[in-house]
Amino acid sequence: MQTLTTLSSLRTALAELPKPLGLVPTMGYLHPGHLSLVHVARRECETVVASIFVNPTQFGPTEDLSTYPRDLESDLTKLRNEGTDVVWTPSKEEMYPPGFQTWVEVEALTKFLEGAMRPGHFRGVTTVVAKLFNAVQPQKAYFGQKDAQQVAVIKQMVRDLNFLIEIIVCPTMREFDGLAMSSRNAYLKGDERRAATVLYRALNAARIAYQSGERSANTLRHLMADTIRTEPLAKMQYVSCAHPVTLKDLDWVEGDALCSMAVYVGGTRLIDNFLLESGVWIT
Ligand code: PAJ
Repeated sequence: MQTLTTLSSLRTALAELPKPLGLVPTMGYLHPGHLSLVHVARRECETVVASIFVNPTQFGPTEDLSTYPRDLESDLTKLRNEGTDVVWTPSKEEMYPPGFQTWVEVEALTKFLEGAMRPGHFRGVTTVVAKLFNAVQPQKAYFGQKDAQQVAVIKQMVRDLNFLIEIIVCPTMREFDGLAMSSRNAYLKGDERRAATVLYRALNAARIAYQSGERSANTLRHLMADTIRTEPLAKMQYVSCAHPVTLKDLDWVEGDALCSMAVYVGGTRLIDNFLLESGVWIT
């Protein structure tokens, strides 16, 4: 496995390696959710590239950039064990040199959900992902359903800017009790870890109601919100039942739907979602 930091060394290394090339972009502190993306990429591609870059431009001024967990040595061991060929760990200066002034912004889709709560977040995500795509020039790029709006926004960017890259979406990896794996779970203290399962419980309440015939999106939203309110350590930021591509609120669940939420558990902000696609729940 080659570990590279500069863009020029990356380009030199990739020129020698066989295609198709699969890219797994990450911010590090890797858990089995991240590694599941590498695993799928390994199956589908001749060369697997993972990037580790805690992208400052996608964090708001009051967010956790300075405390975001990092452990490069352990990340490299995990990536090596999954059979990664190349790890790119660019510096902040490599990605955003002095004078940097070009941004990629997906407009309408980023006004909803996470975009509404975290102004500027998706501008940072699309800008860095566009730069990663241009640096690595993969045939396929792997993203987690865990970040459902990120998937919708990146697919839109790929369409709008003619990136010749197939976006592969992988299911959410969960802990034994349903909590979606996340680098931010490391922040949960004491009872908060148990309380954090409320997101999964709320999403299941919506799924079960749907499976019993409920089709009112409002009823599903209320069921999720009511479940979250049963947990004293949890504070709901939003719950949503929306169209998975346009992210617009649904009145009735007649086709595909994305149930999603953001919830504070103590001081930690967690997100999760279930996707209803072609009549099947992807949880
Ligand atoms: P990060 O949060 O490190 O996540 C990297 C990738 O892992 C994303 O595609 C995310 O959706 C996926 N992922 C996270 N938790 C997962 C889980 N439990 N199961 C399956 N996949 C999971 O998302 C980012 O980084 C950044 O925004 C990035 C795309 C790298 C741009 O900076």
